[in-house]
Amino acid sequence: MSTRPADHGANAPSQPDPTEATPPIPSDEELARMSTEDLVRLGNRLDDIEVVSDRERFPVPGTRAEKRAERQVALWFIWAALAGLAFISAFIAWPWEYRGPEDPGGFLWSLYTPVIGLTFGFAVFALGMGVIAYTKKLLPEDLTIQQRHDGRSQEIDRATAAARLVDTGRRSGIGRRKMIFHSIGAASGVLGAGVLVAAFGGLVINPWKQGKNSELLVTGWHSEDGERVYLRRDTGEAEEVVLVRPGDLEPGAMETVYPFKESQRSHPEELKEVLHSADSPVMLIRLRPNVAVIKRAGQEDFNYGTLFAYTKICSHMGCPTSLYEDQTNRILCPCHQSQFQANEYAKPVFGPAARPLAQLPIAVDDQGYLYARSDFIEPVGPAFWERNS
Ligand code: FES
Repeated sequence: MSTRPADHGANAPSQPDPTEATPPIPSDEELARMSTEDLVRLGNRLDDIEVVSDRERFPVPGTRAEKRAERQVALWFIWAALAGLAFISAFIAWPWEYRGPEDPGGFLWSLYTPVIGLTFGFAVFALGMGVIAYTKKLLPEDLTIQQRHDGRSQEIDRATAAARLVDTGRRSGIGRRKMIFHSIGAASGVLGAGVLVAAFGGLVINPWKQGKNSELLVTGWHSEDGERVYLRRDTGEAEEVVLVRPGDLEPGAMETVYPFKESQRSHPEELKEVLHSADSPVMLIRLRPNVAVIKRAGQEDFNYGTLFAYTKICSHMGCPTSLYEDQTNRILCPCHQSQFQANEYAKPVFGPAARPLAQLPIAVDDQGYLYARSDFIEPVGPAFWERNS
């Protein structure tokens, strides 16, 4: 029971008469004819709601104080709309493709995640602040006490509860506060668009724009102009190019190699990019001489003697399959434990992978260096919709 005196404002439709007994339940027709105020009053009495105080924030509409409060509230929604716009712009236009710290544009790239996080976060924050400010500054100030009732509400309770919501909305003056109405619309519209952009923006891309040379179909081993692509080591220095000869690997050894074209030698950026490219790494494996080999139909000449080159990208979900066990000739993927048989065209023999690792056709040039005779003849890595192998 409240000890505060009741404060009945000019619009206090919900104050019950304490001397009045439980009101008669109106019929459906009477209910349909009742005004919003009548329904609110009835609902309060039926729900055992005691209205302790109920006061308009601004009993006289249009005062300077009311306009100032409106502007303060609208300002939060405008901030939310602007931050939402900034988020959408950054999501679409900010440089998002990886750049090394010393590469041109590397600093801007490093800001991509903070920028989209901050703009989106501030938009949600400002929208929330706007709602709080609206509630505190413009909604009628009331204090009510209600006894708790169990069970599902009856039809009449639901009608009166809806009427109470409508009444609160009407008395909050949202209909006549055009600045707030429009700023809320702008903030929620832009923020809603931002959520859609974040969810679906990454899908608005045509992966087949470059036809046969589309990214899903070619790797760093592809050569458009017929330039020879060699196998190189990663020495830790992108500009230090060390090519591979067959004798560099002991029987039973495995080494990760990367593509190299002579035209890249004087372009440090390209040399670095190739080493960082996800589809570049290849496992070069030298089987022991006595190991029985089964080759895949159509790929009988892809190896060079006992040297076999397989992509490092797992055909299950794309993890790097970096473990080679020379006693069993198995390649292991650490992600979900798929195993591939290196002496049988890297076919899967254990785990969830269902497709062999793609094999790179290799040969040796007249100076004794290993090179790729072509790119992989099938896409590397996991399945995608258009893949037919
Ligand atoms: Fe290799 Fe799943 S990614 S087993």
